[in-house]
Amino acid sequence: MSHVFGDCYRGQRVLITGHTGFKGSWLAEWLLELGAEVIGYSLPPPTSPALFRQLGLERRLRHVPGDVRDPAALAGIVRETMPAYVFHLAAQPIVRTSYAQPMETYATNVMGTVHLLEAVRQAGGACAVVVVTSDKCYENRERGQAYREEDPLGGHDPYSSSKGCAELVVSAYRRSFFSAPASPVQLASARAGNVVGGGDWAVDRIVPDCIRALQRGEPIAVRNRSAARPWQHVLEPLSGYLWLGACLARPELAPGGSRPPAAAFNFGPPLASIRPVEALVEEVLRRWPGRWEDRSDSRAVHEDAYLSLAVDKAYQVLGWRPVWDFAASIQQTVDWYRTAAEGERGTEFNPRARASTREQIARHQSDALAQGRPWISAA
Ligand SMILES: NC(=O)c1ccc[n+]([C@@H]2O[C@H](COP(=O)([O-])OP(=O)(O)OC[C@H]3O[C@@H](n4cnc5c(N)ncnc54)[C@H](O)[C@@H]3O)[C@@H](O)[C@H]2O)c1
Repeated sequence: MSHVFGDCYRGQRVLITGHTGFKGSWLAEWLLELGAEVIGYSLPPPTSPALFRQLGLERRLRHVPGDVRDPAALAGIVRETMPAYVFHLAAQPIVRTSYAQPMETYATNVMGTVHLLEAVRQAGGACAVVVVTSDKCYENRERGQAYREEDPLGGHDPYSSSKGCAELVVSAYRRSFFSAPASPVQLASARAGNVVGGGDWAVDRIVPDCIRALQRGEPIAVRNRSAARPWQHVLEPLSGYLWLGACLARPELAPGGSRPPAAAFNFGPPLASIRPVEALVEEVLRRWPGRWEDRSDSRAVHEDAYLSLAVDKAYQVLGWRPVWDFAASIQQTVDWYRTAAEGERGTEFNPRARASTREQIARHQSDALAQGRPWISAA
């Protein structure tokens, strides 16, 4: 037994938007492990298979199908449940989709965030809110530097710019409505880089692309081999979101015992984990033999060539640090898919996938404890 996030989630109502997605499903599973009462508000899972279904989450939390573009429905669920914590993950998260569907991307990612914050404001309860944006929210000048929280926001493509806009919305709501030190609402945003981990089945993401090709015995098609990204295991930013939420709600938990500023925080891996796509694919192939092919297309839509985050603020203010390095993150990821593939196929509940997810959460926690992370302590 250990105390995880100061036990602050036990018995608490936690609303997750986007709980049917990849990160949302891991977050929901972790919060259920921590004893939270989880309410999820989301569109149906965006993929098939979907981690949400493989984990059987629909039966274990309060699943509310809904659209963040519907302000009345979102306000209704916030008012009815009065959550103590909100994690806003619902988004259209794929860069290439945002070129095809820019209006939907802005409607979901920007106005969806406005609707959520307005619902929290109108409900008037005490609440810690973490809005999840992205490392792509920065104006990327491709100078190879790591972005800091105070750097200019921007974004070349509609997805990246929608996340920059969502950051501006958060900042305006915080300054206009939630700025008093005694404000019942504490609002922060979290900017993380590319995540890897079992159970991601999205189209157009490199790890699921690798796994699908390997499962079919086909070469992995790599379209952006030299693009460098700050890869981290999904449990790393989630530990940051959960620790940030805990410290906002219970300031005495934060290092130094005072409430961290309700502000933006980057959550990223060490510099050594900023690697090109090609290196990630090679690391996967060391564990699941196969081959890859360069399918670069000079006519492809623009995607950032280099992205990295400076994470000193999260280190200094929250004492947060990643737990697993690049190799360990890829190892856990490949192990998860191998385990799930040995279990039941198809899109429904997969006990092996759930067992693997729970084991990896437990391993991440015990490694964090061994490394002295402030968000976990021995009982
Ligand atoms: N996966 C990554 O590498 C990564 C990196 C940086 C930031 N993020 C951010 O993390 C969050 C979660 O990403 P993910 O990888 O889990 O994506 P995902 O596509 O797996 O999940 C997105 C979730 O949002 C829901 N959703 C989409 N449109 C909606 C709408 N209009 N109304 C209600 N729900 C809606 C989906 O149903 C799903 O539950 C997103 O905000 C994304 O931008 C992800």
